Amino acid sequence: MGIRLIGAGMYLPELVVDNEDFAKIVETSDEWITKRTGIKRRHISQGEYTWAMGLKAAKDAIKSAKITPLDLDMIIFTTVNADFAYPSMSNVIQGKLGASNAFGIDICCACAGFVYGLDMAQRYIDTDENIKTVLIVSSENMTKSVDYSNRSTCVLFGDGAGAVVAQRSNQKAYSYLGADGTRAELLYAHLYPSGNAFTTKEQAQENSKIFPNETGRYMYMNGKEVYKFAVNAMPLALEKACQKAGISPKDLDYIIPHQANIRIIETAMKKMGVDKSKVYVNIQETGNISSACIPVGLAQLFEQKKLSPGNRVGMVGFGAGLIYGAIVITV
Ligand code: ACO
Repeated sequence: MGIRLIGAGMYLPELVVDNEDFAKIVETSDEWITKRTGIKRRHISQGEYTWAMGLKAAKDAIKSAKITPLDLDMIIFTTVNADFAYPSMSNVIQGKLGASNAFGIDICCACAGFVYGLDMAQRYIDTDENIKTVLIVSSENMTKSVDYSNRSTCVLFGDGAGAVVAQRSNQKAYSYLGADGTRAELLYAHLYPSGNAFTTKEQAQENSKIFPNETGRYMYMNGKEVYKFAVNAMPLALEKACQKAGISPKDLDYIIPHQANIRIIETAMKKMGVDKSKVYVNIQETGNISSACIPVGLAQLFEQKKLSPGNRVGMVGFGAGLIYGAIVITV
């Protein structure tokens, strides 16, 4: 048993902020950002909720799949910027869509969230005969967790959402997922202030040994180390997923990598000997929208009618955790 994608959708906020705009708020330049990251502009939410952006992408995906919300059996929502600690974003979406036959699960797997979500969808479809149609929604409000006085991070991120409808088919998807939690301290953001009135000195010391940078709700990132991790983790994950599918990355019709830095994408693809023309890149327009990057890319490929039945698409992500994962799917 496997899955195929029967529809994809996206939503990008109206406000577009380009590199010159950033040069007005931090010491940076269009030249630096373009050369070091490939980013030219990004969409930024003006206070929109993460679930609300996800809902727009979900409706778009359902329309593209030509189904109704009542056809959905399960909703998976991926984000690192949930609006609430509870309820889950997937439950909010279920209610707003009127998808009363579906249950929901949220997953937080950083920028690899969509790959993990698709993998999870296939596993549920595989093991439960009542689950045939799954909506995966990835929505991110990265601008809520970046500090706009820190030029090393604020220029990198944007907001937006992507969604797909996956349905049972006889085409198996092949995935490879991995993590290195010993390097969790390289990239993190607190959900709550650490500690409370009863925290002991020892507990506080223990915590700050692992996460030494108190950045409040803002992101801490050691960009150089994450970069080094990413250029190895991306080829490793995609090659392993392809191996399971009995192919090589060069045999894929399209590759949609996580869009964090054009230099990371180019280095990783070069390591696998993959032709540039097969690699989907939209980083110049969106910046890094964490787990939404890959489904937004898929929605754009659907919209441009670039995917034909039988095409094999490889998707590969990495991010905070440190986490990585790839999936190969036949559309
Ligand atoms: N404009 C101008 N100068 C800058 C900027 C900026 N926006 N940002 C940093 N600099 C400066 C630094 O201060 C430094 O100056 P110095 O040499 O005087 O100290 C110099 O540029 C070089 O800085 P580096 O950090 O060495 O630059 P690098 O080439 O490594 O690029 C970057 C930084 C873009 C962050 C890169 O390391 C990167 O892409 N890393 C991976 C990030 C990533 O993939 N994150 C995933 C997050 S997704 C998730 O899970 C949430």
